Amino acid sequence: MSRYHQVYREWQEDPAGFWAQVAQEIDWAKPWDEVFDPQAGVYGRWFTGAECNTCFNCVDRHVASGRGDQAAIIYDSPITDTKRVLSYSDLLKEVSVLAGALKASGVKKGDRVILYFPMIPEAAVAMMACARIGAVHSVVFGGFAANELATRIDDAKPKAILSASCGVEPNRIVEYKPLLDEAIEIADHKPDLCVVYQREQLSADLKPGRDYDWVEFIRDAVPAGCVFVAATDPLYVLYTSGTTGEPKGVERDNGGHMVALKWTMKNIYDVDPGEVYWAASDVGWVVGHSYIVYAPLLHGCTTILFEGKPVGTPDAGTFWRVISEYGVSAMFTAPTAFRAIKKEDPKGELIKKYDLSKFRTLFLAGERADPDTIQWAERNLNVPVIDHWWQTETGWSIAANPVGLGVLPVKYGSPTVAMPGYDVRIVDETGNEKTDGDIGAIVIKLPLPPGCLPSLWHKEERFKSSYLETFKGFYETADAGYKDEDGYLYIMARTDDIINVAGHRLSTGGMEEVLASHPDVAECAVIGKGDTLKGQVPVGFVVLNAGVNREPEEIEQECIKLVREKIGPVAAFKTAISVMRLPKTRSGKILRGTMRCIADSETYKMPATIDDPAILGEIADALKGKGMIS
Ligand code: COA
Ligand code: AMP
Repeated sequence: MSRYHQVYREWQEDPAGFWAQVAQEIDWAKPWDEVFDPQAGVYGRWFTGAECNTCFNCVDRHVASGRGDQAAIIYDSPITDTKRVLSYSDLLKEVSVLAGALKASGVKKGDRVILYFPMIPEAAVAMMACARIGAVHSVVFGGFAANELATRIDDAKPKAILSASCGVEPNRIVEYKPLLDEAIEIADHKPDLCVVYQREQLSADLKPGRDYDWVEFIRDAVPAGCVFVAATDPLYVLYTSGTTGEPKGVERDNGGHMVALKWTMKNIYDVDPGEVYWAASDVGWVVGHSYIVYAPLLHGCTTILFEGKPVGTPDAGTFWRVISEYGVSAMFTAPTAFRAIKKEDPKGELIKKYDLSKFRTLFLAGERADPDTIQWAERNLNVPVIDHWWQTETGWSIAANPVGLGVLPVKYGSPTVAMPGYDVRIVDETGNEKTDGDIGAIVIKLPLPPGCLPSLWHKEERFKSSYLETFKGFYETADAGYKDEDGYLYIMARTDDIINVAGHRLSTGGMEEVLASHPDVAECAVIGKGDTLKGQVPVGFVVLNAGVNREPEEIEQECIKLVREKIGPVAAFKTAISVMRLPKTRSGKILRGTMRCIADSETYKMPATIDDPAILGEIADALKGKGMIS
């Protein structure tokens, strides 16, 4: 019998008491004045008056309590054939030394530090070192192009940038330093210094006076202690796709973040201190922040930093090899990774080669988990497969099946129920609640629980207008879905122009901005087309300027190249289609939703306000011409 309903009720009856109780598991330098102060910040702030340090809670206290020899981070990189274990004592040493070097270079509490890293342990060490001295890190995913990095540099205004010489992808070495140099060149803001970790696969050129070799940088550093910060001070800013090309800087605080994440480790993931926990994601995404780095370390677990892919490094058995080699008890990844494995090894033959006896639960998030994938994983792994729903903004799951409280019956297609802290409602455009089973906008009654964003970095007005204004008193998730009679949530689609490609959140608006910058493009529309592997892939339609007499295919290829150059390979933008016109309403709004239905061969209702229905036929013909529909 699950304790979920009882625990959810306890939170409903006394939210402050609930979180105050959970907060006992964190070591505070100074206790809070108020668990929740409704007058502070935009919608209130958690643990006001308290002081703490996230690095202390993730590292120092575990060494002090006897976990020094336990593995904190296991780095496993099939792509470079490297393995390395950092014990909690090793981690403390490395983090303190880097923190000391940063401090000696003038980086202090409140300064921002951008981290642009592949999946190597130095990325986690750098995050912790920033947290140790109260600096605010902002990790930028390695698959983004220089332009995206430049946008983040201009918004975060970092004092320092820490990076590595390269990333390693299956088909190529990704040279980070030229991208970093270009980004700094494009950006108006210039960092004081860059520190580059030289990997053996490639050595980067350093600019004297600005760039430092990581090893040299830390050589004579005096280890730094923890700087206590306010619980409400920012720990990090993580940029995520918004509806335009300008990303949103999601801010995370120190105190509430620790409290929330610590609660999830036992109650949602059912993992105990000392166990091995693995999130196969990337430190550049929120899953990487919360569940590769912060939560497992807060909880005294061993975390795995995996530099590889679910398939091809070397095969579709790599996940099972890691699980068996390190005795992983819980794993967290995106459904797309399982779809990739299922495609290569449909019968799960490779699973049988490994001892998975310690493996208890698989967690999936980042995109809708299709029932086929869940059932395949259940059948072949013989463990519960738990879908859970969250966003960069929330930092932890809004809805989940809390395994530690006792698993609730699984309903395929649903990430199960709202977690304590979240009062989730389904509403219509005017904010009226929908009846069970009816689809609507998914909103969360304010205040958001600890761990969720208090605001966007230095953009309070954008925070309010993006999330809080449409439905007064509620946070707008920008997801649409419904609730059933048992309170199970079903997350069906985004209500904005965000698409989800291989578990990566991307803005079609951002891609349209890039396409529109092509000199031969008059107008354009990007939609997310359903894809059996990646969930969705972007497809761009471009209308060329009158008088352009080059081959459309040539311009289409240029458009594809442009998106890769400006946004990055992660956009997976591989299809641009030139069309004569775009379907619009009489008021000139492009009918992207209808175009998506055509691309997905779904039936659709002819929009009543359509200007010229014949254009829909032209779109279908263009897709047929590219072999995208039959
Ligand atoms: N640095 C540089 N380039 C990167 C990158 C990184 N960190 N990560 C991805 N890329 C590149 C890839 O090399 C690829 O480039 P290509 O066009 O030259 O082939 C491109 O970005 C698209 O990558 P991706 O969407 O990941 O596709 P893929 O075909 O390489 O791999 C999967 C497909 C399903 C195996 C892969 O997407 C995956 O493992 N997904 C798991 C998703 C995940 O962890 N999500 C995090 C949220 S939980
Ligand atoms: P990100 O901020 O990158 O984590 O992306 C968040 C978005 O991914 C959500 O708003 C959803 O649209 C989608 N998403 C995440 N998890 C799930 C899930 N379990 N089911 C359905 N959609 C999900």
